Amino acid sequence: MCSVLTRVRPIHRAVALSLRLGANTEGSSYAATQSRRLSPGKNSVLDLQRNSRFYCSRIAKTEGLLVRQLFEVESSTYTYLLADTNTREAIIIDPVLETIDRDLHLVEELGLKLLLAVNTHCHADHITSSGLMKKRIAGLKSAISKFSGASADILLSEGDKICFGKHYLTVRETPGHTDGCTTLVSADESMAFTGDALLIRGCGRTDFQQVNQWGSKLKLYHKHVPTCNTDWMCFCESGQTVSTVGEERKYNPRLIKSKYEFVELMNSLNLPKPDKIDIAVPANLVCGLHGL
Ligand SMILES: [Fe+2]
Repeated sequence: MCSVLTRVRPIHRAVALSLRLGANTEGSSYAATQSRRLSPGKNSVLDLQRNSRFYCSRIAKTEGLLVRQLFEVESSTYTYLLADTNTREAIIIDPVLETIDRDLHLVEELGLKLLLAVNTHCHADHITSSGLMKKRIAGLKSAISKFSGASADILLSEGDKICFGKHYLTVRETPGHTDGCTTLVSADESMAFTGDALLIRGCGRTDFQQVNQWGSKLKLYHKHVPTCNTDWMCFCESGQTVSTVGEERKYNPRLIKSKYEFVELMNSLNLPKPDKIDIAVPANLVCGLHGL
């Protein structure tokens, strides 16, 4: 049995998509998110997303692996709780400060032992709850990419394995939206949690949090477009919560573009600055709470 984190040989097969979930001001679906805020109740799918607890409909393929998808309304962030149903060891991905009570209540209801709170990247649209969770759960560790610039108990690198019970997620570095973006891939490669790097029918914006914007776009493009494994599943946003890599390769308007078309498109988005970026990023550099 492995500890929470083990280092393994880097896996050179690039990862590509995964799941995220969250249409937000950082991602490609800003317009949809704004529309949702301005026109509540207009769309039944979006209404569903307003539920404080929004579970993923997909059942994990791996026996003994519990997967719960949770949703935070204001930032449209998806949080994932994964656990080994035998040992009860669990991890949480991208927890949000506003929903910490809901998330920890669910952990308690399910009788889980939360080992790790991991952030796929340093978020700009919400404050992570990982720091506050550490104060409320003895022994809980935090983790984020070593390239994020943020502090955490564990700094992740390509190929690291995040273990809980007999299960694990493999860390794949997928920069572009931010330098420290990671995608977390299940052992059977049936699930990948992409954060904002890749969204259903979109991808995260590449015009902030990095100095070299041209480089960021190319990093995102090269990490995702040519190397998608068609078997992988994606759990994302834009009204949908699950997709496959094959489906995204066919229908994602960004993945079907050439490198130069992709860069041109990303340069023309002209997205507004995320509402919380000046608060969220500094806070998330220290696990979500200043001074931790
Ligand atoms: Fe983001």
